[in-house]
Amino acid sequence: GFVVGTAVAGGGHHLSQDYPDPFTYDREYRKILARQFSSVSPENQMKWDHIHPERDRYDFAQADAIVEFAERHRQVVRGHTLLWHSQNPEWLEQGDFSQEELRALLREHITTVVGRYAGRIQQWDVANEIFDDQGRLRTQDNIWIRELGPGIVADAFRWAHEADPEAKLFFNDYNVEGVNAKSTAYHALVQDLLAQGVPVDGFSVQAHLSTRYGFPGDLEDNLRRFHALGLETAVTELDVRMDLPESGVPTAEQERKQADYYRRTLEACLAVEGCDSFTIWGFTDKYSWVPVFFEGEGFANVMTEDFHRKPAFHALRDTL
Ligand code: XIL
Repeated sequence: GFVVGTAVAGGGHHLSQDYPDPFTYDREYRKILARQFSSVSPENQMKWDHIHPERDRYDFAQADAIVEFAERHRQVVRGHTLLWHSQNPEWLEQGDFSQEELRALLREHITTVVGRYAGRIQQWDVANEIFDDQGRLRTQDNIWIRELGPGIVADAFRWAHEADPEAKLFFNDYNVEGVNAKSTAYHALVQDLLAQGVPVDGFSVQAHLSTRYGFPGDLEDNLRRFHALGLETAVTELDVRMDLPESGVPTAEQERKQADYYRRTLEACLAVEGCDSFTIWGFTDKYSWVPVFFEGEGFANVMTEDFHRKPAFHALRDTL
């Protein structure tokens, strides 16, 4: 039951004009996607701004294509994401809606999107990044929590469960790999929600790691304490970025360290019961979001831009 996944590139604000939708037009890319992975996650294609571009219009084309691809290749799909502060369409963020209208909008969106793929999505990231790094709920930048209060999070899980009782419903975030204020805030919230009977099934760590910082050595302990609450866990967006080397080519030492971070993340997940889904955020540097979002860093994926396998690729293969 253990699956190894990747994000499916597409729709990213970082993708240069030179690359018309990789998932559609890059044959080499699709071949590797089909052969090397047992799970796929749309990198952007199920986010609000993509799937719900206007109030009365959904655009399922890219999301449908990914789900169909996955089924053809006997892969499972992680749905991403339903309640988030980022990548919301302007009509939503700038709109002038009453509380009732907003609540109805979220409910309708979740019912429509989750319902469309009911039975075909293994795990849904229902709530994404709802805490800041200090472990405070995002009451300012998350439109749903700001306008409707924290109770909306529980409702999102309830509506998603109604729309697809089979899908496992997750909280997902970054900087929650180790035991810290943010992951502890999730741990407390989950206990609270479970006590109220809210259908929460999982807690997942994105794992956007950087070799600038130490490896979160307490990842395994952290996953275990969520398992102890009865939750599944997952690694959902692993990449390991490094400082851009002056020569333009990473040194052997940089690649070794990167491979080590990949391997240790996989080992932690494998060691914890209920951590059955392990996803890397893209497999090739060719389409990586990293150089655009993290100044001075890059080379975060397990394959080079021309699809050569790096030590990190072999580290994962050897560990599986
Ligand atoms: C990123 C994508 O990789 C980019 O293409 C996009 O422009 C911005 O979002 N946490 C998440 C992901 O949950 O959805 C983000 O993906 C990376 C951080």
